[in-house]
Amino acid sequence: MSKTAKNTNLQSAKREKNDEFYTQLTDIERECNHYWEHFRGKTILCNCDDPRVSNFFRHFFLSFHLLGLKKLIAVCYKNLNPDLFSQHKDEQAVYCVYDSKDRVNDQFEDYDVFIKQNEWGVLKGDGDFRSEECIELLKQADIVVTNPPFSLFKEYVAQLIEYDKKFLIIGNMNAITYKEIFPLIKDNKMWVGINNGAKQYAVPEDYAGTFLDKHGKRMKQMGNTMWFTNLDHKQRHEPLRLGWRYLPEKYPKYENYNAIEVSKTSEIPLPETYNGIMGVPVSFLEKYNPDQFEIIGADYDVKQGLLPELVNPNWKGKLDRGYIDNERLYARIFIRHKRGYKNEN
Ligand SMILES: C[S@@+](CC[C@H](N)C(=O)[O-])C[C@H]1O[C@@H](n2cnc3c(N)ncnc32)[C@H](O)[C@@H]1O
Repeated sequence: MSKTAKNTNLQSAKREKNDEFYTQLTDIERECNHYWEHFRGKTILCNCDDPRVSNFFRHFFLSFHLLGLKKLIAVCYKNLNPDLFSQHKDEQAVYCVYDSKDRVNDQFEDYDVFIKQNEWGVLKGDGDFRSEECIELLKQADIVVTNPPFSLFKEYVAQLIEYDKKFLIIGNMNAITYKEIFPLIKDNKMWVGINNGAKQYAVPEDYAGTFLDKHGKRMKQMGNTMWFTNLDHKQRHEPLRLGWRYLPEKYPKYENYNAIEVSKTSEIPLPETYNGIMGVPVSFLEKYNPDQFEIIGADYDVKQGLLPELVNPNWKGKLDRGYIDNERLYARIFIRHKRGYKNEN
């Protein structure tokens, strides 16, 4: 094997290894409970999920009747044996297509019995979500719900968009600023879910910074994971309550952008006092109500020359981030109040 091929294999193995962290049932339930009206009569696909170990599969299996699902499909990746942390040693993968016919007399209501007794389907290929077999399963699905490999997040989302699927997935908070992801958020084709923030995931023994939970399971706290979805939820129509008046000394103008810096989402000034462009932290998206605000772009768009009106023509420095007093600030999103929206306090 050539040196380059060896390096590529090593890189890919390392990347795959960092993708092995498993979502807890409570975190899945907590989020999915906000979308139950979307699930009725629908086919759900969990395509990065070994049905024998995934809590996504378990959740939808257990609430199949309650949600009135039509079908539930789960597919794993390069795994024939049911080990929690896929070693990706096999060249094939198992899958499960479960539908209401399987529910005659509720005979499979018992999850443990189902997992023990079911005969799992084996794919011809390795279960890669981009493979032909998996795309055929994707086509059958109405909604895809999973925690996909973060290292392939851009490709993963691009595929969901290409096949025009509804989705509810976990991703890294940094994904917001990816050039492939941010335009989807800006154009309201994708938004953040509800229960974001730190979560604990089950991880393999050799992960760094882990601890054992009360059942002796190795866990890792990850503060930077978020739900991403294109399923509507009530929270994104909640008005963000505003109470601050614009004062030039409180909201400085950037040196390089024609906009003001609003360092805290909770301190966005009232539109009656300021109706220009504001730079806000990325965490604004958790409060973003598309009826109330319009997203103009992000630092990246300025850098790409997509927002010329935002650039201060006298600025001689970089356009990578906002600068105030020569200090480079954190990543920002540029927003503006929507005209005609009635803010109630
Ligand atoms: C972050 S883990 C989450 C696992 C599971 N969805 C959960 O939340 O518990 C991502 C999973 O994607 C699988 N995976 C990695 N590359 C994949 C690919 N190309 N296609 C499908 N699944 C993949 C990994 O084996 C891993 O199990």
